Amino acid sequence: MNSERIKAIAKMVNQDDIVLDVGCDHGYLGMYLLKNNLCSKVYASDISNNALDVAKKNYQKYHLDIPCYLSDGLNNIDVSFNTLVISGMGTSTILKILDNPKIPNKLILGSNNDYYKLRKGIYKLGYYIKEEVVILENKHYYVIITAIKDNKKVSYKELLFGKSHNKEYYQYLYHKNQDIIKKVPLLKKLKLIYENKLLKGLIEKK
Ligand SMILES: C[S@@+](CC[C@H](N)C(=O)[O-])C[C@H]1O[C@@H](n2cnc3c(N)ncnc32)[C@H](O)[C@@H]1O
Repeated sequence: MNSERIKAIAKMVNQDDIVLDVGCDHGYLGMYLLKNNLCSKVYASDISNNALDVAKKNYQKYHLDIPCYLSDGLNNIDVSFNTLVISGMGTSTILKILDNPKIPNKLILGSNNDYYKLRKGIYKLGYYIKEEVVILENKHYYVIITAIKDNKKVSYKELLFGKSHNKEYYQYLYHKNQDIIKKVPLLKKLKLIYENKLLKGLIEKK
């Protein structure tokens, strides 16, 4: 398993975590966790029967005991778990899945887009972002977030850019904004100029 993104997710899992991997696809995260003895138990689910069949075959191949569930989000999940992983999906899908009373105290989330909306949604649910890691994979930056149940305040700056302290990522965002600034109407331009001022501060921070 060569995905640095999956390895970064696995790093956020603790030994006593009971993980549910929603949207497990071919099951790489579960395999990596159990093969390396990184946690006590893994459950896997997916909305796609085809994906789940591949995951089951992979788990069997390595004699891994990972129960699998065909489920849209948490709808058909009736086992108990204390850590929910949702990764490789868009923010809207992730937030839809999180809109469920079964969500546990610890969330590990890896969206493909709109991290501002995701962070906002996480705080709205009464969770606090404890850690963020940025991974560059296949020329795309992925932000992996660990959140725990806790009512804490968050700044607008952190909602926008997170707490990864990854200067390369901030530089990437800065240059992306610089390109967009040239093409957008005044109000949007002013917003992006303000964002870039904040980003500059993060980039230059000692
Ligand atoms: C791109 S794959 C990501 C696989 C893996 N989690 C990762 O991070 O590489 C997205 C997977 O999420 C599944 N999925 C999408 N929406 C879902 C939902 N509402 N509930 C469960 N699984 C879902 C898809 O079927 C697909 O297998």
